[in-house]
Amino acid sequence: MFHSSALSSPHPEATSVGRTAVITGATSGLGLVFAERLAAAGYHLTLVARGTDALNAIAARLGHGDRRPHIITADLGTEDGVSRLLEALTTAVPDLLINNAGYGLAEAFPYSTPADEQTLLRVNVGCVLRTTHAVLPMMISRGAGAIVNVASVAAYGPVWLASTYPASKSWVLAFTESTARSAQLKGSGVRMMALLPGYTRTAFPQRAGMTGPHMPQWMWLTSEQVVSSALRDLERGRTISIPSLRYRILSQVLRHLPRGVTTRFSLDRSVPREETVAAATAG
Ligand SMILES: NC(=O)c1ccc[n+]([C@@H]2O[C@H](COP(=O)([O-])OP(=O)(O)OC[C@H]3O[C@@H](n4cnc5c(N)ncnc54)[C@H](OP(=O)(O)O)[C@@H]3O)[C@@H](O)[C@H]2O)c1
Repeated sequence: MFHSSALSSPHPEATSVGRTAVITGATSGLGLVFAERLAAAGYHLTLVARGTDALNAIAARLGHGDRRPHIITADLGTEDGVSRLLEALTTAVPDLLINNAGYGLAEAFPYSTPADEQTLLRVNVGCVLRTTHAVLPMMISRGAGAIVNVASVAAYGPVWLASTYPASKSWVLAFTESTARSAQLKGSGVRMMALLPGYTRTAFPQRAGMTGPHMPQWMWLTSEQVVSSALRDLERGRTISIPSLRYRILSQVLRHLPRGVTTRFSLDRSVPREETVAAATAG
């Protein structure tokens, strides 16, 4: 079994010495808090992101000597970046893999480029598929290991963000749930969990254009809330983790009310069609 009890143990280092974790997107937001929490629990970390300076600064802060996290500078939207990560994963399969790197586009789908949409799919979907495929056989043969794939509450309905983003997160949820419950993983000692955060105060919402007056305050979570809840759910062996009661309720609503009802409450931040048609025809 995956021994994650180290994460909430009063003496975490006693139980997690020698355990390894790889975290993608570890330089800010949720990934950074995962890194801080796992470093404190005694994990040997490998941190992955595009920014080498940020990775080095975080590694230096989180540990010294042989406790200093390894870093991998990789753009997971490129073949080269994913290959570098896969090489590291297959050379030393970690006890815990957190596929956290992901983003949304600021442009609504009709006005983005196909290349940008495909790059988003490479990071949010392709990389999750390939890293999971790379580590699962070894985890299964060891009889231990865990994979956390970060999806989103948006996975339950394309009612937020007029882009490929909610579709990519629906894939992460469906893939994680079906693989976690497959005959190959049942009783294997290997866990997979999809983490579905709601709106969380990180760099992500700003980058994805999800700010403004349409965002009620009660909808915001902190990265600390999300990561604490995720690690608790991982210990409990949950397949799906939805941090906070409000988002668990909202997810039930999204799943069970007819689409015709839920889509009326959509938070669509795309530019209204009339405005874009007017802009396109002006001049
Ligand atoms: N915040 C929310 O409201 C929210 C809600 C639901 C789900 N999520 C999901 O939570 C996950 C983490 O997001 P966050 O909110 O923590 O965002 P964030 O603060 O923007 O952090 C994203 C991390 O991913 C890395 N990253 C982005 N693109 C990358 C690429 N192409 N290759 C490698 N690394 C890349 C970034 O580092 P570099 O820029 O240095 O590469 C950064 O470390 C994402 O999967 C996101 O979809 C977030």
